Amino acid sequence: MSLEVIILAAGQGTRMRSALPKVLHRLAGKPLAGHVADTARALAAEKIHLVIGHGADQVRDTLMADDVDFVVQEEQLGTGHAVDQAVPSLMEDSRVLILYGDVPLIRKETLEQLLEQVSDQQMGLLTVDLSDPQGYGRILRDEAGEVSAIVEQKDASAEQLLITEVNTGILAVTSKQLRRWLPQLSNDNAQGEYYLTDIIDLAYREKTRIASVQPARREEVEGVNNRLQLAALERAFQTNQAQELMLAGVTLADPDRIDVRGELNTARDVFIDVGCVFEGRVELAEGVEIGPYCVLKNVRVGPDVKIASHSVLEDCDLDGNNQVGPFARLRPGTHLENLAKVGNFVETKKAHLGQGAKVNHLSYIGDTWVGEHANIGAGTITCNYDGVNKHTTQIGAGAFIGSNSSLVAPVHIGAGATVGAGSTIARDVADHALAVTRAKQLQKNNWPRPAKKTTE
Ligand code: UD1
Ligand code: MG
Repeated sequence: MSLEVIILAAGQGTRMRSALPKVLHRLAGKPLAGHVADTARALAAEKIHLVIGHGADQVRDTLMADDVDFVVQEEQLGTGHAVDQAVPSLMEDSRVLILYGDVPLIRKETLEQLLEQVSDQQMGLLTVDLSDPQGYGRILRDEAGEVSAIVEQKDASAEQLLITEVNTGILAVTSKQLRRWLPQLSNDNAQGEYYLTDIIDLAYREKTRIASVQPARREEVEGVNNRLQLAALERAFQTNQAQELMLAGVTLADPDRIDVRGELNTARDVFIDVGCVFEGRVELAEGVEIGPYCVLKNVRVGPDVKIASHSVLEDCDLDGNNQVGPFARLRPGTHLENLAKVGNFVETKKAHLGQGAKVNHLSYIGDTWVGEHANIGAGTITCNYDGVNKHTTQIGAGAFIGSNSSLVAPVHIGAGATVGAGSTIARDVADHALAVTRAKQLQKNNWPRPAKKTTE
């Protein structure tokens, strides 16, 4: 039977105290509801029905995707009402999983277990035991130990409030069951809402069995209502990722001080120092060392590369054995061939450095192709922008660019050529030539310095 997922995300999230709808707040760089949608995708859901309300336009703009069907709940009349809004879009006969846009860490494995429970005679309910069940719906069981109903905190008797098994809200049913039960809900309760939880009682009465499943970890079913809870789940998520990295052969200087906001793929014997942030898709090959406080976004790092502290790399390719930083900024389109070096206070953009080429200090290298083993001295600037258009610079293999030179693009420096320090090079330089543009040095021997005037 095909699988559909309904994600409830219409609530306001007042306690976030934010102009941003709650489900768009980010965890590990991704909107909360984006995590839930991705988990639905991992389960191979055929369709994702996202029930939106507060900030609907913004939620739709952010989470738009081919497999997402947005359903607007104009008024938030309760979880049962929210699910009911999606019912007209459900398939005739499918399994339906109900998830929440503000419960981001629910795991695929737990949900698979829950979905195994679904049939025409049975439904699945995810419950959890809490030492402090305050605020949650309590699970009622009959003499045989079977789940028979859920009673909300506000409707519960003193005796029922002692129950520690609570409703996570996550459940799995068939579309047929939903179509049968939802029209029977009423809002005759303490909150005047249509409770989704009342379907449990209806199921029990018609002898549909309610099979309960528990999550492996507490944080899987924890929701985000304020920024403290958001921070706590962020840490839980990062801790899990850090543990996976360590088990995969990465040494972390401090597993509490790494943030992975995307996909980080690593080989053996990678070392990551404190305070690093990884975004997008980053690959670190064997033996890579990353110094403290580096930011890497969409970067491929080849074997044995050393990136020293405070370096920022985005959309780059490092082939291997490179040395980068400290304080290097590698902007999009930077490609370092094997053994190339980029040192401190160097900015590169759309720059190709051939094997063993070096830019060690204080330079800007943009729209530039550098041949192998070229050496670019401190303070070299490629003047790639004439105020209107960008132009490219070519530096031949083995060329030597003296310190504090300006290379005015478009310009070509030949292989093995030398540029004298302090030159402004606006015309091409032939292979193996020396080019220098420098005012002659003036010298006046025994020159008396001006003396300070004295006033009587
Ligand atoms: C719900 C459950 C409760 C469970 C708890 C777990 C019901 C009636 N109660 O209570 O048994 O222990 O979750 O956290 O289901 N939403 C909508 N539209 C609405 C109402 C809610 O989209 O009209 C969304 C909210 O944005 C939220 C989620 O559904 O993400 C849960 O709603 P909420 O009102 O917070 O339910 P609880 O009272 O927490
Ligand atoms: Mg809630």
